[in-house]
Amino acid sequence: MSATGPDRASGSGAGSAVGAVWAQDRSGVIGADGTVPWDVPEDLALFSRTTRGHGVVMGRATWDSLPDRFRPLPGRRCVVLTRDRSWTAPGAVPAATLPEALAAAAEPGDGADGEVWVIGGAQVYALALDEGVLDVLVVTEVDLEVGGDRSQQALAPHVDPAAWSAERREPAGGGWATSRTGPRYRTTWYRRR
Ligand SMILES: NC(=O)c1ccc[n+]([C@@H]2O[C@H](COP(=O)([O-])OP(=O)(O)OC[C@H]3O[C@@H](n4cnc5c(N)ncnc54)[C@H](OP(=O)(O)O)[C@@H]3O)[C@@H](O)[C@H]2O)c1
Repeated sequence: MSATGPDRASGSGAGSAVGAVWAQDRSGVIGADGTVPWDVPEDLALFSRTTRGHGVVMGRATWDSLPDRFRPLPGRRCVVLTRDRSWTAPGAVPAATLPEALAAAAEPGDGADGEVWVIGGAQVYALALDEGVLDVLVVTEVDLEVGGDRSQQALAPHVDPAAWSAERREPAGGGWATSRTGPRYRTTWYRRR
C-alpha cells in the first residue's frame, strides 16, 4: 500500500484496511442539489490518485451524481450501497450492508488490489465512521462557504480530534494552495488513534 494509504488493520471485517476521502467547504458541506458545489480540479486529481487501483464504496446517491463518463470510475472496483435489492447498474457491484460492501470492494478485480476507500456521500461517510471501520481520512477543505439551507445539504462527518490525529498536511506549514479555478484549498491526512 502507498505511504498515504490505509495501511493499518481495521475492524471492517473486509480483510484489509479502509480509508475515506472527501472535500468539504469551511462549514463541512460536501454536496448540494445532488452534486459537489465547487470546481477544484486539483482535488479531483488527488481523489483519483488516492483511489485508482483500489476498491471504492459509495452510496447510491453518489453513484447517481457521477457523470455518465465516470460510471464506473475507471480503474476502480465500484461497490454501491443500496437498500434496493433489485438495483443494478453496468459496472457497479451492489451491496445491501456496509460489511457486505467493504468485503466486495476488497475483492481483487476491475483493476483493484484489495485496498478500500469509502468515497461518500454524507450518509455513507457517517455510517462508516460510526461503525468504526475507517483507519485513514483524507480531507480537503475548500476555502469557501456554499451557503444555502444546510438541512438540504450533504454534510461531512465530524472528525473528533480525540479519535483522529492529523499526520500530514498539504501544503505543509499550515498554508493554502490556490486552485487554477480560484478557490484556496488544503488537504489533511488523518489516522485513527
Ligand atoms: N465533496 C465530496 O467529497 C463528496 C463525495 C461524495 C459525494 N458527495 C456528494 O454527497 C451527496 C450525496 O450524499 P448523500 O448523503 O445524499 O447520499 P449517499 O451517501 O451517496 O447515498 C445514500 C444512499 O445510500 C444507500 N444507503 C445509505 N445507508 C445505507 C445502509 N445503511 N444500508 C444500505 N444502503 C444504504 C441508500 O440508497 P437507496 O436509496 O438506493 O436505498 C441511500 O439513499 C451528493 O451531493 C454528492 O455530490 C460529495
